[in-house]
Amino acid sequence: MPPISMHSVDQQVTDLVTDINIEEWSRQYWAQGEFLALERLLPPSLIGEFIQEVDGVRSKINRNFIPKHKKGGSVSYYLLQESAPAIMAFYQSPQWLQVLSKIAGVPLLLCPDEDPHACALYFYTEPGDHIGYHYDTSYYKGARYTVLIGLRDRSTSQLLCRLHTKESDRDVQELALATEPGTFIYFNGDKLHHAVSPLGEGEERIVLTLQYVTDPSMSFTHRWFSNMKDAVGYFGWSALFRRPTR
Ligand SMILES: [Fe+2]
Repeated sequence: MPPISMHSVDQQVTDLVTDINIEEWSRQYWAQGEFLALERLLPPSLIGEFIQEVDGVRSKINRNFIPKHKKGGSVSYYLLQESAPAIMAFYQSPQWLQVLSKIAGVPLLLCPDEDPHACALYFYTEPGDHIGYHYDTSYYKGARYTVLIGLRDRSTSQLLCRLHTKESDRDVQELALATEPGTFIYFNGDKLHHAVSPLGEGEERIVLTLQYVTDPSMSFTHRWFSNMKDAVGYFGWSALFRRPTR
């Protein structure tokens, strides 16, 4: 496998953000209750680089199961830091961060090193893999924003979204979206009620998740609760004791 060129990732992000209609994206984001979905936004070349890294960490997937809520596999930020330089370069790209900040109208920051969710992979690879309805609740002192990037989708599974659930003057709007390679989904974690429908037999769905915050500080109690939730629901207990390397 040829080495990943960081210049290549930077250049592809430059190409991606050049000539975009940021005002229109921001308008759509706010009209949909802090939610935006753009099909196949990222080019196949960039997704191809990410998929090479995804295939390199497949042996390290942590499978998790919470009865009646979720079943699937995850790879944490800590493992991606060690072995996924193109994905890391994309997550940390200042240009990309600037675009997200402009859409949401707030200056965004990377999550702190000790957050295994900061940049992670979700694997839906076994029949019935899914996650029930939830918010990506912020345990930070500031707001938390989620980006989902579709990497591989050979499935009938869909991202189920309920928009405007926190707005008393709006009717709830329901959406069911496929996350095909390159599809970009962006939302305020406390605003979007969402789920993933169960995977069928012989199917596969892989998604990259990126998290950004307005204030990365967190109380000791919230950090403890967040760690417990991540260990049980996503990355396993070993992630609690793994030192971040960035
Ligand atoms: Fe979520």
